Amino acid sequence: MAVRAGTLDHVISAAQFDRPLLDALFARATALEGTRGHSLTGRIMATLFYEPSTRTRLSFESAMLRLDGSVLGTEAAHVFSSAMKGETLEDTIRMVCAYADVIVLRHDREGAAAQAAVVATVPVINAGDGPGEHPTQSLLDLFTIERELGRIGGLHVAICGDLRFGRTARSLARLLALYDGVRISFVAPDVVQVGPDIRALLDDRHVPYQLSPRLDDVIGSADVVYQTRVQKERFTDPAEFERARGAIRIDAATMQRLPATSVVMHPLPRVDEIDPEVDSDPRAAYFRQAANGVALRMALLELLLA
Ligand code: NCD
Repeated sequence: MAVRAGTLDHVISAAQFDRPLLDALFARATALEGTRGHSLTGRIMATLFYEPSTRTRLSFESAMLRLDGSVLGTEAAHVFSSAMKGETLEDTIRMVCAYADVIVLRHDREGAAAQAAVVATVPVINAGDGPGEHPTQSLLDLFTIERELGRIGGLHVAICGDLRFGRTARSLARLLALYDGVRISFVAPDVVQVGPDIRALLDDRHVPYQLSPRLDDVIGSADVVYQTRVQKERFTDPAEFERARGAIRIDAATMQRLPATSVVMHPLPRVDEIDPEVDSDPRAAYFRQAANGVALRMALLELLLA
């Protein structure tokens, strides 16, 4: 499950990536942008999704097809796969390894991808494990920051919304910690503030960060505002969800306080945390961000398979 001399076995956590690997991935993704090739001819990717997805699954499939690979898979795997009959994740993974050369797995349980990797004989890519991590999203997020702003080091990144259950926010913070001079503001109400594991990691790496309940406090100096959806499906206490929902919103008035050279990002889907009136602002980078997922995932699949 580790980085091996410039290559990877499984992709489970953002913690597996270092700067040389990120630089290589982003350079390859830039070269692959808008192209089609044959580097994965004859290879098969299986997508096994136990939770809903639009962008992650389709951009992985698009990436594989653009490199002349093939795809197979199942959505709603809790009901459409033999999980419904009581099959364990391990047994499902053992079988899918016989059908495909790489498995892209999304699961509602934290740790599911790591559990799958233990029995897998082909690379497993974590496409989201409950509130755990979503490493490939954070790769495309970082790739987007570099493309939009020309650098990552030295930036002030405001990560907003649901930082307790939002796996993309958690993975992004891990990757940002690799860059010199990055400063992070975690903007969220207490009930969904970032957890002690991420804070400990930032402390270890001496990355300056602050917690704030209001975007207004930090927006004037933010280079990137990374907004996220409140993960309604992960709350067991409806009262806690009510305290989190709508706490941080971005609308045209918010954009007036954001510097002219900064960008707003979001892993999507959005619900009501970014007003659609923001979409026409050139600093709204979230649709460009989603599009970047294809080239980034092409580069990643090549790294794992070619
Ligand atoms: C995110 C996810 O699934 O974690 N979506 C995505 O992959 N782009 C964010 C979310 O669901 O809010």
